[in-house]
Formats: sequence, C-alpha cells, structure tokens
Amino acid sequence: MNPLNIGNLKVNLPIIQGGMGVAISLSGLASAVANAGGIGIISAVAIGMTEPDYMKNYREANKRALRKEIRKARSLTNGVLGVNLMVAVTDYEELLTVALEEKIDVIILGAGLPLRMPQYVTEKGFDNIHTKFIPKVSSAKAAKVIFSYWAKNFNYIPDAVVVEGPMAGGHLGFKKEDLLNDVVPLADLVEETVLEISHFEKEFKKEVPVIAGGGVYSGRDMYEIMQKGAKGVKMGSRFVPTHECDASIKFKETYINSKEEDITIINSPVGLPGRAIRNKFVDQINSGKTKPFKCYWKCLKSCDSKNVPYCIAQALHNAATGNMEEGFAFAGSKAYLATKIQSVYQVVMELKVEYYKMKYIEYVKNFLGQRFVPEQINLPNLIPGISIKLA
Ligand SMILES: Cc1cc2nc3c(=O)[nH]c(=O)nc-3n(C[C@H](O)[C@H](O)[C@H](O)COP(=O)(O)O)c2cc1C
Repeated sequence: MNPLNIGNLKVNLPIIQGGMGVAISLSGLASAVANAGGIGIISAVAIGMTEPDYMKNYREANKRALRKEIRKARSLTNGVLGVNLMVAVTDYEELLTVALEEKIDVIILGAGLPLRMPQYVTEKGFDNIHTKFIPKVSSAKAAKVIFSYWAKNFNYIPDAVVVEGPMAGGHLGFKKEDLLNDVVPLADLVEETVLEISHFEKEFKKEVPVIAGGGVYSGRDMYEIMQKGAKGVKMGSRFVPTHECDASIKFKETYINSKEEDITIINSPVGLPGRAIRNKFVDQINSGKTKPFKCYWKCLKSCDSKNVPYCIAQALHNAATGNMEEGFAFAGSKAYLATKIQSVYQVVMELKVEYYKMKYIEYVKNFLGQRFVPEQINLPNLIPGISIKLA
C-alpha cells in the first residue's frame, strides 16, 4: 500500500476517515484513525449541539466545540488530523477560521462548491499555512468547476480532491431518480476525475491525488478502486461500528442489526437525497409525516425551516446520542456488512490483510493466467483473530 502524499504531507495509510455529523466523528474516532496511520476527520457540522448552551449561543457553541475537539484529538495523537466543513452551513467561514487558527492539517470541503475558499483564507490573514484543502465532489465536472475557478481567480489549485460516488452514506450529490435507477460506478467517476485533474497538474506542476469514497468498505474495494487511479480512499461507514466512534452504542447497533434491504434513500430537508438505515422515523418521514420543531437559527443556508418536515440536525444529533425513536442513522450502501464492534486498529488490520491478499492474487493471476482460481488460495491466517473474507 503506497502512502498517500498530499503535497509535503505524507500519510502512511492511504485512508481518510469520512467526517460524520452530527457528533459521530469527533476527537475519539479521528485520533484513533490518525494513530492507525490514516487521516482522522472531525465533523464540524452542528458540533455545538454537544454543548449545553447550543440553543442560545449556537454560533459560539459550534466554534467552542470544534476548538475543543481539535485540541482533544491533538492530545491523543501525533498523527494527521482534519476537519470536515460543509459549505452549505451558515457559519462555514467561522468554523473555517477556527480550524485554521488551530493549524489543522487537512480541511475537507463538501456539500457545495467552495469557490471562494482561498479568498476567505487570505482575507482572514492566514499566510504560509500548512493546511491542505480538499474539496469533495460527485463528478469530474464539479472538480473542473472548482479547479478552474481557483486557478483563474487565485492562481492556486486544491491539494487533493475526493470524488464520492452514489453508494456513500450521508447526503449525496446525485438526484434521487439516478440513485434508484442507473448509478454511475465509482470506478468511472475516479477515472474521469483523474483525467480532468491531470490537465491542472501539468499546468501547475503539482501532483493532486484523487481520493475515492462511497461504498468503499473492504480491503478488496480499496485495492480495486486504487487500480483505477485513486491514490487513497475515504471511508465513513466502516468506522462507525468501532469502539472509538463517538456515537452512542445504540447508533452503532443499528449498523450491526441492519440488513441489506434496510439501507434506503431519504429526502433530506437540505434538498439532497441521503442514504440511511430504515427505522420507524425514516418510514414516517418517507410516508409524508412531519415532525414539528422550533428552529433556533437557520443552520443551513438553504433550509426552508418553516416548511421542511423535520429538523435534520436535530434528528441526526438525537440518533448520535442513542435516541433512535426521534432520529435515524446515515449509512453507506455496505453498512449492513458490519457484524460486530471492533477497534479501529482491528478494522485497519483487516483492511490491510484483504488489500494485500488481493494484490497477491492479482500478481499470481498475471503469472499463471487463466488456470488460476483465486478462491482456492489458502493463505495462512496472518493475524490471529482476524477473519479474511473475499466478498
Ligand atoms: C453517519 C454518517 C454521517 C455523515 N455525515 C456527514 C457530514 O456531516 N458531512 C459530510 O460532508 N459528509 C458526511 N458523511 C459522508 C462521509 O463523510 C463519507 O463521505 C461517506 O461515509 C463515505 O461513504 P461510506 O459510508 O460508504 O464509506 C456521513 C456519512 C455517514 C455514514
């Protein structure tokens, strides 16, 4: 497994843990992934809900909680840490400022096109920062829009790009009809994005790794997508059923108890579809039931808070704290594969074993040709207690 190089930042394990809100990936999960050699990501969206005064001082609570979680994570690891920012939230610039003040290593920018981001950074007086900026997109076209805009207006391009396919958990950058019918394979999105970005790499003489996310769950998935040109992967769901994940045990159990048919698409008040695990709450909102609520502030720029059927931030935070009656769990298409709660270290070991097994199989296949039957391969159980399945 080659390290993921983002400029001068070397990440030994080419895995970025997906930022998961509300309060699913905080300092606990992020520091554990960073300690395992990957990039641990703290999700900033509505992070202040973990503070007692959120309803009164939401903006301050968000900033305070983000700063606290970054510092806590730093105290638990010397590894690489990042923050996930959603461009669509009202206090995006304030949270960006906190992350930069705390000298975060990486910022992932999703849920919108972060066109003016470099301008904010310079306007706020941050010079010579080491932070790497990584937009998350759902198509090569969206990557081109961001790269072209930054190149033209700021003579600068992003340090890496995440391309996330339709099988991801959380909000998705695809139309609901497309998700239910013909989904674009992640492999195609990766190849298209690698090609698109290559023009900018040449112009700016800068390597820009493409990172693939959405439904990447096993070492085999990792191996296969990296064969298509991804230099790393972004994984969310795989890290939810871990001891270190910051969500309540009830949230993690929904993953373990889920079946394939429970993974479903919801309409989110954000205006995008999302992938989640079906429960009573999901059934109610999907059948048109509303959950009246009082909006203390418009946390999402686009939210029509007077008319949306429920408050998504509240529902997600309820779920994170174990109140599954009044919330639901976002989850990727392969979340149902979880069977137990593991440590992040065990997950990473399994991923590595599966990845190297695939690499070995490919190698032998190329050597022996058609006569080789991969399923018959019986490698010694390299690490006791870790099962290797070729899914
Ligand atoms: C429970 C959960 C919550 C998520 N919350 C956010 C979020 O707040 N902001 C965001 O940009 N992406 C969010 N995501 C997306 C992840 O960062 C990641 O891109 C995604 O999980 C990758 O797909 P996978 O789950 O199949 O690995 C969430 C995903 C999950 C599963």
